[in-house]
Amino acid sequence: MNRPVLIANGPNLGRLGSREPEVYGHADFADLERLCRAWANDLSLDAIVRQTDDEAELVGWLHHASDQAIPVILNPAAFTHYSYALADAAAEVELLIEVHISNPARRESFRHHSTISAVARGTIAGFGLDSYRLALMAVANILPS
Ligand code: DQA
Repeated sequence: MNRPVLIANGPNLGRLGSREPEVYGHADFADLERLCRAWANDLSLDAIVRQTDDEAELVGWLHHASDQAIPVILNPAAFTHYSYALADAAAEVELLIEVHISNPARRESFRHHSTISAVARGTIAGFGLDSYRLALMAVANILPS
C-alpha cells in the first residue's frame, strides 16, 4: 500500500488558473490535484490534496498529520508571511516541506519573510507546479523504505 502524504494548500490557491496567470500559470487547482496524485503514485506515495482559505482548518489538518505521522507538503500561500499559528502547528509535523509556485524572494518585500521556513525540513520555491513534484521526490527519498 502506498504511504500517504498530505499536500495542504492555503488561501487563494483554489483560484489557480484564473489568479494572476503571469505569476502562477494557467493550470487550475484540479490540474494540480491530478498531477500531484500521478507524481505521488509514481513514487509509491498516496497524495491527499487539499486547499482551504481558512487558517483554523489548515492548522487542524497539520495537527491531524502530526498525530498520524503523515508527512506534509505545505503551500501556506499568504499565511507564509505572517501566521505564527500555522508555524507552531507546522513545527509539530515531523516531516514538513514548504513549497511555493512562485519564488517569493523575487517578489514584493512582504513576501520575503516566511514564518514556516524555520520549522520546515526544507523549502522548494519558484518552479511552478513542478515545486510540488520536487517536494514529493524529497519526501520519497527521506521516508525510510
Ligand atoms: C505562494 C506565494 C505567496 O507569497 C502567495 O501569497 C501565494 C502563493 C506561491 O505558491 O508562490 O498565495 O505561496
